Amino acid sequence: MKILICDDEENIRNVMKRFLALEGIESDTAENGLSAERMLRSDAYDALLVDLRMPGLDGLSLIRWMKAEGFRMPVIMISAHGDITDAVTALKEGASDYVVKPFDPEELVIKIKNLVESTNMRNIVEGEKKESGFIGESAEMSHIRSIIQKIAPSGATALITGESGTGKEVVAREIHAFSSVSDGPFMAINIGGVPENLLESELFGYEKGAFTGADRRKTGLFELASGGTLFLDEIGDMPLSLQVKILRVLQEKRITRLGGTMQMPINARIVAATNKDLEELVREGKFREDLFYRLNVVRIHIPPLRERRSDIPLLAAYIVSKYNRQMGMRITGFTPDALEALKNHPFYGNVRELENVIERAMIFTDGTVIGQEDLDLRSSMLKKSESPAEPVNVPEALSLRDIERCAIINALHRWEGNRTRAAEELGISRRTLISKIAEYSIDL
Ligand SMILES: Nc1ncnc2c1ncn2[C@@H]1O[C@H](COP(=O)(O)OP(=O)(O)OP(=O)(O)O)[C@@H](O)[C@H]1O
Ligand SMILES: [Mg+2]
Repeated sequence: MKILICDDEENIRNVMKRFLALEGIESDTAENGLSAERMLRSDAYDALLVDLRMPGLDGLSLIRWMKAEGFRMPVIMISAHGDITDAVTALKEGASDYVVKPFDPEELVIKIKNLVESTNMRNIVEGEKKESGFIGESAEMSHIRSIIQKIAPSGATALITGESGTGKEVVAREIHAFSSVSDGPFMAINIGGVPENLLESELFGYEKGAFTGADRRKTGLFELASGGTLFLDEIGDMPLSLQVKILRVLQEKRITRLGGTMQMPINARIVAATNKDLEELVREGKFREDLFYRLNVVRIHIPPLRERRSDIPLLAAYIVSKYNRQMGMRITGFTPDALEALKNHPFYGNVRELENVIERAMIFTDGTVIGQEDLDLRSSMLKKSESPAEPVNVPEALSLRDIERCAIINALHRWEGNRTRAAEELGISRRTLISKIAEYSIDL
């Protein structure tokens, strides 16, 4: 996020720049309307903060100019006490909001943040912003985006890790899209989903007569992905016997079809993904160390959604626009409390769970805006335990009270002492949690 601050008072420019920086928001400053024009032309800003009264080109003229030039970012006016009529004119001319001097810089920063967030969301819902399919402006996702752009053209093998539903396939497709083979095919295989006896022939193909039933030649995925990308999903499920063969392909860049003799060169870019801990599998002897190193040339780890909550609003908007299109609906967004609830939900199922929650809410809502009552977050949280109960390792016999105490300590630990989130995870109110912390004398 980058803000342009335009004010003739140096003091206001400095204070706002400092308060924005405290929130990690970048900003540039301009001391009059003319230099603001110049900067708006040469750089991209998410919002403009502008003084109404300035010598030379004043705030109102700047807003008119922006409108004529097609700039659409939010503009917040700073006006003096007596300028209310001018401020109202500014609102009519397209300003989004205004503050009256003297103002609280901290509140203004919050106002700017909210305005930019809701504008970005609206742009995505209305399809204004070009969708790349890879959404995320959090520091974590921006970092991943920059790694993708750096490594994609090189053709290097990449290993993507992350919990289920974090977007590993999205990242794999993004690598393909930015690569030099983006015009070529993107072939994906879910290693865990293909029966072991078919896996080898899927990957390598076979010659006619290679085995009973092989009544014609079959081209394998390594060959089909030539000139493009082969995405080996759930690589951690690869049987050991096949791992050595894959390693050989990666090293020699050729394959032999089953039952064949000819060596075929292959040049597919390999991207692998797993939600398992491959290092752990290596230690357990279930995954070959040499193959691990061969795949792990570039490692991209996608953090769980609950560790990058600032991505939730944009993802939510993107999902709404996607389902609006798919289901022919016209949902425009969320009520503030619905958005707040989404931002606070743990999302163990990550982006996929967010998608499911929103899709369901869109079907159930009566209006065009999704309200908190349309979101069924509780039941989506309970889904985790819908699978048959498995015995959990509990040392010796514990009383229910002991177990409750452990659960509370663990939840508080997981959420680094954040009681609101811990309570949500435990399925109790914050007040109940606080009284239980006292009851069990849990030290924090
Ligand atoms: N950054 C993102 N931007 C847009 N959509 C995303 C993003 N991350 C995930 N999604 C969406 O969430 C869903 C799950 O993503 P994806 O299939 O890539 O996850 P995954 O990590 O491969 O999960 P699994 O391990 O279960 O296969 C998809 O529908 C995808 O479109
Ligand atoms: Mg996947």
